[in-house]
Amino acid sequence: MSATGVASVRRLLRGTVAHVPRDPFTAAGEALEAWDDGGLALADDGTIAAVGAWRDLRAAYPAADVDDRSGAWLLPGFVDAHVHYPQVGVLGGLGPRLLEWLEGRTWPHEARFADAAFARAEARQFLRLLARNGTTSALVFGAHQAVAMEAFFHEAAASGLRVTAGLVVGDVGLPEALRTTPELAFEEAAFLARRWHGRGWLRYAVTPRFSVSSTAALLAACGAVAREVPGTWVTSHLNETPDEIAVVRARFPDQRDYLATYEAAGLVGPRSVFAHDVHPSDDELTRLAAAGARVAHCPSSNHALGSGLFPLARHRRAGVGVALGTDVGAGTSLSLLAEATSAYVGQMLLGADGERLTGARLLWLATAAGAHALGLGDLVGDLRPGRAADVVALRPPPGSTLAAALTHAADGPSALATLVTLAREDAVEATWVAGEAVWCAAAAERLVG
Ligand code: GUN
Ligand code: ZN
Repeated sequence: MSATGVASVRRLLRGTVAHVPRDPFTAAGEALEAWDDGGLALADDGTIAAVGAWRDLRAAYPAADVDDRSGAWLLPGFVDAHVHYPQVGVLGGLGPRLLEWLEGRTWPHEARFADAAFARAEARQFLRLLARNGTTSALVFGAHQAVAMEAFFHEAAASGLRVTAGLVVGDVGLPEALRTTPELAFEEAAFLARRWHGRGWLRYAVTPRFSVSSTAALLAACGAVAREVPGTWVTSHLNETPDEIAVVRARFPDQRDYLATYEAAGLVGPRSVFAHDVHPSDDELTRLAAAGARVAHCPSSNHALGSGLFPLARHRRAGVGVALGTDVGAGTSLSLLAEATSAYVGQMLLGADGERLTGARLLWLATAAGAHALGLGDLVGDLRPGRAADVVALRPPPGSTLAAALTHAADGPSALATLVTLAREDAVEATWVAGEAVWCAAAAERLVG
C-alpha cells in the first residue's frame, strides 16, 4: 500500500484497482499497477490518501466508511483531449469525408446553437454524457455563438467536471451564421475568457476552428486573446486530411506549412493542443516538440472519415506528447475506451510503422497522457496518493460479452486489455471528480428511468 500522511480519511472504495503511474512507452518493466482485491482511501479534501491491497487499506483505516464496489474496476477518470460540445446531434453520420461532412451536416447543425435555450439543454446533456462515459476532464471544442458558450460554461460549472473550452471562431469559408470578424472574435472571446478562465475547475481555450476557416487577421486576434488573458489554453485542428491541407496552402501561400499559420499568430506553445495531425511533415513534428505543444489523436474520427492512420511512432520519436480525443461527432462515441480500441486497430494497420499498444499503454493514453496534455498531470491521471480522487468504476453488465470474456483472462494485463476492448458506456457504474459523484448509474435509473 502507498499512502500520504493525510489523516482525515472517512471513506474507502473497494474494487479491482488499476492505473498506469509511469509512461509505459519508456518505463522499464510493467508500468501497470493493479490489485485484484484493492482499494482507495479518499481524504476529505477530495484527494487520494492511499491505494493498495484491500486488506492493508482496511487495516490502516478501520473506522472509515466503505463503499464496496467488489466486482467492479476502479480506474483513473478518463481525459478527453478533443471533443465537440455541439456535435452530439451529428454522431453516426456515415458517408462523407471531412470537408463534405462539415459543410453538409455539421455546420448546419451547429448554426442551431444561436438559440440559447437549445444550447443550454444540449450543453447539459453533453456534459452528463461525458460523465456517463467515465470522462472526468475534457478539452472541449465549443460553439461559434457567445450565447451558447455562456450557457455551456454555466452548465460546466454545475457539472463538477474539469472542463477547458472556448468560443469557436472563423471568418471565412463558413456559412454566414457561423462567421465572425477578427474584431468581434477578440471582443467576445476576451469577454468569455476573463469571465470564466480559472473559475473553479473551468479554464478557457482560445479556439480558432481551423486555418481553412481563418484569415491571418482572425488568427492574430486569437493570439491577442491568449496574451490578453494569461494562462488560457489554445486548441484547433491540424493536418487532418490531404484535401484540408491543400485548402490551407492555397489560403496561406506565404506560410511554409499548416503549422506555420498558427505559429505566425503566436498560437503554438506549451498550452496548445492540436487535434488530428494525421499528415504532418517531419519539420512540423520537430517544431511542435520544441514548442511543447501536444496532439490529440482521434482515431475513430480518422477512421470513420477516412482521414488516414495516425503516425504515433513518428510523434513519439519526435518527442511530441500525444493524448486521446473522441472528436464527437466525427468520432463514433464519447467512450475513451472505444477510442483506445480504435487507436490499437489503427496502429496494427500501420504494420511496421505502427506502435504496439498494450492494455497498459492504452489506459495510459486515455488517462495520464491526457492529463499531461491538458496541464493537469500533477493533479489527475493516475491513482497515486496526493492525486485528486477522479475515479471511474466499471462493472461488467451481468450476462454481457465483457463479463464472459473477463472470466477467461489469464492475468491482470490481459484482463485490462479485455476491459479496454469491451467495456463501454453501459459498464460505467459511477464516476467521481475529487471524490464527488458526477455520475451514478443506479441514481440515474431512479431519477430518469
Ligand atoms: N476541422 C474543422 N472543424 C472540424 C470538426 O468539427 N471536426 C473535425 N473532425 N475536423 C474539423
Ligand atoms: Zn474536432
